[in-house]
Amino acid sequence: MTTFRDNLLAGKTAFVAGASSGINLQIATRLAQAGAAVTILSRSPDKIEAAAAGIRAKGGKCIGIAQDVRDHDGVGSAFAKSVEAHGEIDILVSGAAGNFVAPFNGISYNGFRAVIDIDLVGLYNVMRQGFPHLRKPGASCISISAPQAVHPYPLQAHVNAAKAGADMLIKTLAVEWGPMGVRLNSIIPGPIADTEGMARLAPTPEAMEKSAKGNPLQRLGTKDEVADLALFLSSDAAAYITGAVIPCDGGLCLQGAGRVGG
Ligand code: NAP
Ligand code: COA
Repeated sequence: MTTFRDNLLAGKTAFVAGASSGINLQIATRLAQAGAAVTILSRSPDKIEAAAAGIRAKGGKCIGIAQDVRDHDGVGSAFAKSVEAHGEIDILVSGAAGNFVAPFNGISYNGFRAVIDIDLVGLYNVMRQGFPHLRKPGASCISISAPQAVHPYPLQAHVNAAKAGADMLIKTLAVEWGPMGVRLNSIIPGPIADTEGMARLAPTPEAMEKSAKGNPLQRLGTKDEVADLALFLSSDAAAYITGAVIPCDGGLCLQGAGRVGG
């Protein structure tokens, strides 16, 4: 049986940063399943090649590039390789992130810089280096944000600051690039099952259960549910949506900040 996803993106190309695992790998897999030729990028050569091989094994067209999003010139080279393989970019997803649980006074200069450099400066690098290669008009860009962008979670000062900044950057670019026919939106995933992010934020079964019950729908989300929203935003069905920050979170962001770390 075919689904609405099949061939939705036939003939299109996608570049997904931070996609060797978790939510972003599921997004890349879904875009490939919908017919897009996909480039995925992350730091570890072994992880990114295994992820690309997994997408190819499912029938998708995919190459993997090992690159740290903190390296501005290196990200530029990655885009050049992607364009050489697949051509101009229709869909650009930026989701590389780092997180650890610590009080502000337990976050060293290097620790704060690491998260800001991956989540916020990394987004700058991906958008700044990706822009020349975007299809204009027509490209859709998506940033993977977090509830920390909206509510000040304790023990998450670095992530709160980085994700809030990232969402404002996306809104700014939506205004600057809209006249060129480029759309940009952010997705805020809630607590998503079977992810590294949740393993770090809810390290015990009790904490995981609390997270699952801590939103109006009272369950964890799935990687598929976030990937379907990304697919929608990538498609022409979302042609008039730009500058939006869209939660896929069971209603979590309607509430105040919860707690992380158990
Ligand atoms: P994950 O599996 O750890 O995904 C992070 C990805 O980013 C990995 O592929 C990692 O691969 C890559 N990465 C990390 N640092 C990088 C760097 N400096 N340069 C290039 N790639 C880098 O985590 P996840 O939980 O699925 O999270 C994915 C996204 O969703 C993140 O943006 C996160 O903030 C957001 N989010 C997650 C949740 C959740 O419940 N999990 C909730 C809200 C928001 P390498 O290690 O190989 O580099
Ligand atoms: N508590 C306090 N500080 C911590 C920490 C923790 N749990 N984990 C790392 N740090 C500090 C380190 O001590 C170091 O600071 P220092 O030099 O002052 O000692 C600084 O953060 C950088 O650590 P390092 O391991 O050198 O950085 P990295 O660039 O290799 O890794 C991280 C970046 C720290 C964000 C790492 O957790 C990572 O790679 N994460 C990617 C996966 C992930 O977080 N997935 C979930 C996404 S939501």
